[in-house]
Amino acid sequence: MRGVILAGGMGTRLLPATLITNKHLLLVYKKLMIEYPLQTLLDIGIKNIIIVSGGNNIGDIANVLGSGKKYNARFTYVVQDEPLGIAHAVSLTTDFLNNEPFVVILGDNYFEDNISNFIDTKNFNSGSIIFLKEVPDPQRFGCPGFINGKISIIEEKPKEPKSNYAVTGLYFYDNTYIDKFKTLKPSGRGEYEITDINSLYLKEGKLNHTILKGLWSDMGVHDTLLHVANFVKEKETK
Ligand code: G1P
Repeated sequence: MRGVILAGGMGTRLLPATLITNKHLLLVYKKLMIEYPLQTLLDIGIKNIIIVSGGNNIGDIANVLGSGKKYNARFTYVVQDEPLGIAHAVSLTTDFLNNEPFVVILGDNYFEDNISNFIDTKNFNSGSIIFLKEVPDPQRFGCPGFINGKISIIEEKPKEPKSNYAVTGLYFYDNTYIDKFKTLKPSGRGEYEITDINSLYLKEGKLNHTILKGLWSDMGVHDTLLHVANFVKEKETK
């Protein structure tokens, strides 16, 4: 299975640091931001990875990460010219994906859990899997509603969330992704939303979910970046 890391965006919420380099190369304790989601993929045995970048200082990413050799992996790069959203960024990797199932992770997401503790990723080949985490502010994220323990709806940044769960930035998809993407229309914020892709899998009864145990956080604003940095530091000193 191949992996996709999404590393677009201007990183305006991390100014002035993002004047210097791309957001995903900022230091979060002893590692670069993108090395955390990269490790999440490496931990589940994904070594063939495409990185989609966009926004500012794009070239820095390939300069710093290189071929992937130092991670015992292989990296390919593609550029998203316009900020058209997560679902669009994934669609740019179609050729690389070779019509096989794949995993997508957001380049600013930190997962404490080792995902192989939850699912047998090697045997994933149909439908989709999303990962949920209970959060105090579900209105900031993709958010599911449930009926009898089953997801009945997923809404992007709902004003009145139907649960306390966030849809985290880790997604497994089968090879029907691109056909689904072709049916999408941009949302109110002008983006092709990954939540709309997930809703299409849900409609087909092919959206599976798992609830994470450990810390999950984005690192896209000063407070969350600092929080993850402190968390990793404490974990490492224990
Ligand atoms: C994106 C997704 C959202 C998801 C979040 C996870 O939000 O649209 O569904 O919950 O990532 O980090 P954005 O970063 O675009 O605000």
